[in-house]
Amino acid sequence: MSNIKTFKVFRFDPEKDKKPRFETYKVEWKSGQTVLDGLNYIRDNIDGSLAYRSSCREGVCGSCAMHINGKYCLACEQQLKELSDTITIRPLANLEVIKDLFVDMAPFWKKYKAIKPYLIGKESSTGKERIQSQDERAHLDKVIDCVLCASCYAACGMNAIDPEYLGPAALSKVNRFFLDSRDSAKEERLAMVANDHGVFRCHTMFNCQIVCPKEVDPTANISNLKRNIIASQMSGKLSKKGV
Ligand code: FES
Repeated sequence: MSNIKTFKVFRFDPEKDKKPRFETYKVEWKSGQTVLDGLNYIRDNIDGSLAYRSSCREGVCGSCAMHINGKYCLACEQQLKELSDTITIRPLANLEVIKDLFVDMAPFWKKYKAIKPYLIGKESSTGKERIQSQDERAHLDKVIDCVLCASCYAACGMNAIDPEYLGPAALSKVNRFFLDSRDSAKEERLAMVANDHGVFRCHTMFNCQIVCPKEVDPTANISNLKRNIIASQMSGKLSKKGV
């Protein structure tokens, strides 16, 4: 195996460039290094103008998601030894490029904020502790692991055609609170996403499930919301208006 990897990196500065291009860099590597290590090497030793996001370097902050050799993943988790000698890197799709691999996350965060990503409970105003049993907490396993990297958002065909679609990450977060025994806004949460830009825009393509680096399975989260919306409508708790 060669100890040199060729990085083909998407470059685009909308303020200077007429169109995007790929720039090629040779990087010497050793086992245990990741794509993020390679990008850091390029930025520190070859081209300091290369722009990308990273922070924790251990798959926790979600900031280094990008498209690497045909799939979205976290650059700090993707081992170089698992990749071919030439590595092609693109930014997240469905979000505007600010520079190179650095995209504008504002639409993603706007949708995340819109779904009220916090517990709404009767106890909130009393200041009392919200007790949860181990069994109740077990319902949140996996869905609580989302690091908001936006890989699912970039891979989603519906986000590509409907800019208002909430997307797999925000909808998974709705399900995360819907499943939480301490949350008392379940009907409000279902009503919030029972519309054309909510769960019913999802066509169950499974792209989000495939790319999620934390196995959160957004497809299953969205399906759970759909099932509960329909059950609520059948029982008359939720209006069919707007669906
Ligand atoms: S740098 Fe934090 S997830 Fe990769």
